[in-house]
Amino acid sequence: MKTAIITGVTGQDGSYLSEFLLSKGYRVVGLKRRTSLINTDRVDSFYDDPNFILEYWDLNDVGSLYRLLKKYNPQEFYNLAAQSHVRVSFDIPEHTVDGVALGLLRILEAIRNQDDPPRFYQASSSEMYGDAPCPPTGYTEDSKMTPASPYACAKLFSHNLVRNYRESYDIHASSGILFNHESPRRGETFVTRKITRAAARIKLGLQTELHLGNLDAMRDWGYAGDYVEAMWMMLQASTPDDYVISTGETHTVREFLEEVFNHAELSIEKHVRIDKKYFRPHEVPLLLGDSTKAHQQLGWKPQIKFKNLTALMYEEDFINIKH
Ligand code: NAP
Ligand code: GDD
Repeated sequence: MKTAIITGVTGQDGSYLSEFLLSKGYRVVGLKRRTSLINTDRVDSFYDDPNFILEYWDLNDVGSLYRLLKKYNPQEFYNLAAQSHVRVSFDIPEHTVDGVALGLLRILEAIRNQDDPPRFYQASSSEMYGDAPCPPTGYTEDSKMTPASPYACAKLFSHNLVRNYRESYDIHASSGILFNHESPRRGETFVTRKITRAAARIKLGLQTELHLGNLDAMRDWGYAGDYVEAMWMMLQASTPDDYVISTGETHTVREFLEEVFNHAELSIEKHVRIDKKYFRPHEVPLLLGDSTKAHQQLGWKPQIKFKNLTALMYEEDFINIKH
């Protein structure tokens, strides 16, 4: 039986990846930080699976890393933990950068010092492109990157470090440059979930207004369940590399809002307000990815795209809030 360690297991991607690896017969060791309230909702459905183990750890805790690598001797290690909110990274830049950049450095150092290092996956991000010019068919692995937030700067540092460790120490370390991916388990302060959840609450008479920021930003939105499979595929490839994971479609926040509100038969004019509070000091105007390399070399393709995604997120919020 293979063992995989996943950092950030209580997050959106950590929960989908755990489910996927458990279904493939893995033993999954999920690393979580200590929180004052129990926040294991996203892993509750497989919490009692005997092949699922939760361990405490934190991105700034080196000793626990060495202890856990020794205890479980994993074949695969997925680093998904991060303060992942771009807007919040402007408010707490030091915490964000310490976890995203130095946290990753701590992990890579621990891994390369193992006798038999696990294959390693790093959660890189399309935010790294920032406001670099976007080619008409989308950003590729070789496109220029000019990150536009503390979060994105730290992700680019980590992205470069993974490549550097791969080339310097011959470890099997890959980075997935994942474009935005969403699901009913998406954090409630990211714009897609904020919209679907508010629409469901308005429909059920529990809320009247939804306050949003920049509606003109464009994003390439895919489904988290599809994207975690790409992470696994990267670690099954014979050689490590970097891959863009995206749908190849881009839409404005306004289009996402219209799609959901039309589906719910709600009026945007009546319920949506623009609030300066949600604008960012520096915005990434457009993200569009070209995942040809992942398709050709890994055989990966997204199954769920924009229209289905908006509907599935709204419907699940509606059902959960109603009950
Ligand atoms: P998420 O839902 O925000 O989950 C982040 C996870 O990291 C949570 O489990 C969180 O724990 C944990 N974490 C945060 N700070 C930590 C710390 N100091 N020590 C230990 N754990 C810590 O993010 P996601 O959407 O699943 O994304 C997973 C990864 O992919 C992140 O690295 C993100 O930056 C990256 N990424 C995401 C997207 C996307 O569109 N979703 C796209 C590209 C890249 P708590 O539950 O305790 O908060
Ligand atoms: N969060 C939020 N809240 N965003 C808003 C709002 C709002 O009320 N109103 C408009 N937006 C706009 C943001 O300005 C941004 O342009 C867009 O909606 C998407 O914002 P988020 O959903 O917060 O995601 P993100 O694109 O900043 O970052 C996500 O994707 C990255 C990959 O490109 C996160 O998951 C990152 O961790 C990830 O790396």
